[in-house]
This record gives sequence, C-alpha cells and structure tokens, in this order.
Amino acid sequence: NVFDTAKIASKYAADEIASLIRDKAAKGEQAVLGLATGSTPTQLYDELVRMHKEEGLSFENVVTFNLDEYYPMEPDSIHSYVHFMHEYLFDHVDIKEENIHIPDGTLDREDVYDFCQKYEEKIDALGGLDIQILGIGRTGHVGFNEPGSSINSKTRLIALDSLTILDAASGFFGVENVPRRAITMGVGTIMKADRIFLMAWGEGKAKIVQKAIEGDITSQIPATFLQKHENVEFLLDDASSAEL
Ligand code: GLP
Repeated sequence: NVFDTAKIASKYAADEIASLIRDKAAKGEQAVLGLATGSTPTQLYDELVRMHKEEGLSFENVVTFNLDEYYPMEPDSIHSYVHFMHEYLFDHVDIKEENIHIPDGTLDREDVYDFCQKYEEKIDALGGLDIQILGIGRTGHVGFNEPGSSINSKTRLIALDSLTILDAASGFFGVENVPRRAITMGVGTIMKADRIFLMAWGEGKAKIVQKAIEGDITSQIPATFLQKHENVEFLLDDASSAEL
C-alpha cells in the first residue's frame, strides 16, 4: 500500500488497530499487539494517543509485546526502548502496567534464555499476536533479526550488525556507546502473528524495501521471510516505494 505521506499511512494502521481493540472489547476479549520502536512508528503512536484522548479509545483490554530491547540496557536510560514506549504511547493511554511486555535488558547473561522462552510462552498463552507492527532496518532486519536469522528463530539474544550499530550511533551520541547486542523476538515469533504491518518511510529505505518485497527469500535479508506470511501489508510512502 503506497500512501501520499507517512502520516496518512500511519492513520490507516491506527484505524486498523483501533477497530481490533474495539471489536475485542465488545466481545470481552483482549487485543494482543506486537509493537516496534524507532522513528518509523512514532506517528502511529501519536494517532493512537489522539484517538484515546479525543475519541475515547480505551487500552484497558490491550496487551502489548515489544519486539526488542538493547542488551545490556537499563529501563530508565533515555536510550532504552522501555523509555521510548512510555514517552510515545504508554504514558498517554490507559493501558495497564501488567499488560506491557518489553524484553528485559537488565538480565544476567545466564537468565536470558529462560526469559526469552517465557516471552514466547506468554504470547502463545494469549493466543498469539493479533497485529504486529514492524519497521525495517537497512540490513533488512525486522525487530533486531539481523542477516543470518532463520525463519523459525525465536526470542533470543543476538549480536547487532555493524550497519545497525552505525545507524544507531547518532541517537547514542557516538558509535562507541551503542550496545553490541539486543534481545529480539525471532522471525518465527513475528511470523505467527495473525496480521503484520511493515511500515517504511523515506528514500533511505527504498532499496531495502525493494529487496524485501521483490527479492529472493533469504536469511541474508530477514524481511524477505515476510513474503511467506499470508496477511502482511507493507505501508509505504512515495519515497520508500520508489525502487519497486
Ligand atoms: C531499530 C529497531 C527496529 C526498527 C529499525 C528501524 O533497529 N530495532 O525495530 O525497525 O531500528 O528504525 P527507524 O524506524 O528509526 O528507521
């Protein structure tokens, strides 16, 4: 889906999410969302906050699982995805604290494996993700599933690609400050979602968007695995769709 602007595309995604939340609430059920960070989804979160404030969209029945978190990372660091999510969404809506799940960047190494298993189990116990929001990195990563990630990969600790570290450098005030690792949901975790929106804006994403949609399916570009998903939509603007 190519939209005139990122804002209009984000509004489309927000409307779909709001419909899901309301439909589930009407049935007395929870809506399970997989959420992403980065600059891409901020307008989506702005719109959801607006709908909460102006249209009474409630997040009381919403359960969220974030894709990833840097490792190591303290939750109160300005660089953490915990901080990001509270700043852009959670602090402005009525979601219950116990319904928020974000990979824990403070764990000891020996506790990471168990944590990741439990993250998967919690998603499964709720019947899986209803909607997964994704951005895309220039390496073709979704979440932090860097090149080499398999289609069946699960939530785990990974080493970040050097290009990803470089792309994150300005936010961390220097490449030397970027964590070398992250905990990320796997490609397999993402692929189990009922519905996926991958969002990408701007010319900087045009090349990788073209490869993700039209390229051969390969673990060297993990986003290409999405071609095998039955209900995935790429939400693009003019610039990010320019190479298609
Ligand atoms: C990070 C996140 C990804 C995100 C990517 C793109 O690597 N872990 O989930 O998709 O950045 O970031 P941006 O949206 O800022 O381009």
